[in-house]
Amino acid sequence: MNIVVGVSGGIAAYKTVHLVRLLMKGGHEVTVVPTADALRFVGLPTWEAISRHPVTTSVHDDVAKVRHVALGQGADLVVVAPATANTIAKMAAGLADDLLGTTLLATEAPVIIAPAMHAEMWRHPATRANIATLQARGVRLVGPADGELAGGDSGPGRMSEPEEIAAAVFAALAPRDLEGVRIAISAGGTREPLDPVRFLGNRSSGRQGVALAAEAAARGAEVTLVAANISGDVLDQARHPSVRIVPVGTAAELGAAMADAAASADVLMMAAAVADYRPGEVSDRKLTKEGGGLASIELIQNDDIVAGLVEARAQGQLVIAFAAETPATAGDERELLERARRKQARKGVDLLVVNEVGWDRGFESAENAVLVLGPAGAVVATSTGSKRAVAAAVWDAVIAAR
Ligand code: CTP
Repeated sequence: MNIVVGVSGGIAAYKTVHLVRLLMKGGHEVTVVPTADALRFVGLPTWEAISRHPVTTSVHDDVAKVRHVALGQGADLVVVAPATANTIAKMAAGLADDLLGTTLLATEAPVIIAPAMHAEMWRHPATRANIATLQARGVRLVGPADGELAGGDSGPGRMSEPEEIAAAVFAALAPRDLEGVRIAISAGGTREPLDPVRFLGNRSSGRQGVALAAEAAARGAEVTLVAANISGDVLDQARHPSVRIVPVGTAAELGAAMADAAASADVLMMAAAVADYRPGEVSDRKLTKEGGGLASIELIQNDDIVAGLVEARAQGQLVIAFAAETPATAGDERELLERARRKQARKGVDLLVVNEVGWDRGFESAENAVLVLGPAGAVVATSTGSKRAVAAAVWDAVIAAR
């Protein structure tokens, strides 16, 4: 979708650079329209480089394409971040003395603003009246947050964090086709301890599972995210009023948390990389060379969690598994697909999301490529792109299967 990001002149403009990145990672085209003042905080080359689109503040550039209205007409959504007191006043009055002003007047798309100003300006009756006017016109507000402001003050007026603004944008753009659906998703990678400082683990960062949780919430679902060892910055992208996060460590903990969540879920999704084995013995003290070290590890097989969920499932409950596969020989898609189909049959899941992984792909990266096997083993969807875009394609396939 086409998103216009309006930037007005406040110190929080530097945080909007990250917002633009998040929106692009979500698979959207972003055009940045700064005010002249905004460029005193973050320069034009930064906006052009980050959005990969030309950037101008003036209504007199690109006149042949009637740019002063074309941007607003072509937008699926306009977000203004930061929205200063001055820009909010101009919006309320319908002033159009720059490209952001004309774009806002020419658009019929949803508009979101993320105000940023000093607490006194936010509380001023003029600003209060302007905000009320904009809200009455359907403009949505994100924030402002209460916190530290430029110059050492503190109070309401701080621009909301880019993740929160991006979540509001995604929610406004997403179809509400998972409204009220209760979903339990496991994500991340389990860690099986050997002693208090060591574990057997895997390279899953949890990014794909977090993107699935965020996308489901944006579409209206109630999500329980069972998060195995996911770092805080990754997990931040799942923060949403409809996402409940349950942190876990080991496969056994993950299994228990998913079984618990399954009792009140319509859809169960196992995106986590679960250890198939755990050490037979866990030392409660750090293993040392002096103490004899550890030349070999005896392993015990973990339960297959997803198979257990399938066995215990309630009527109508949909179960989806993931398969991270490395091809036997590079490029041998057919062999990989056959193996995936056997896995789907073995586990008895409705859908299997297959992604090819290797030393250089799948894990830890922002991009992903998957195909989805439907109930009869046929390929019902393929998707390549950002993990958020892949998440959207996976939910489309799940909705079709429901
Ligand atoms: N899974 C699970 N419980 C396990 C291991 C895996 O529920 N003990 C789930 C994963 O969350 C994933 C799916 O099973 O949804 C497939 O995981 P994968 O590791 O690819 O499958 P395995 O059955 O372990 O097969 P393989 O021998 O290929 O590792």
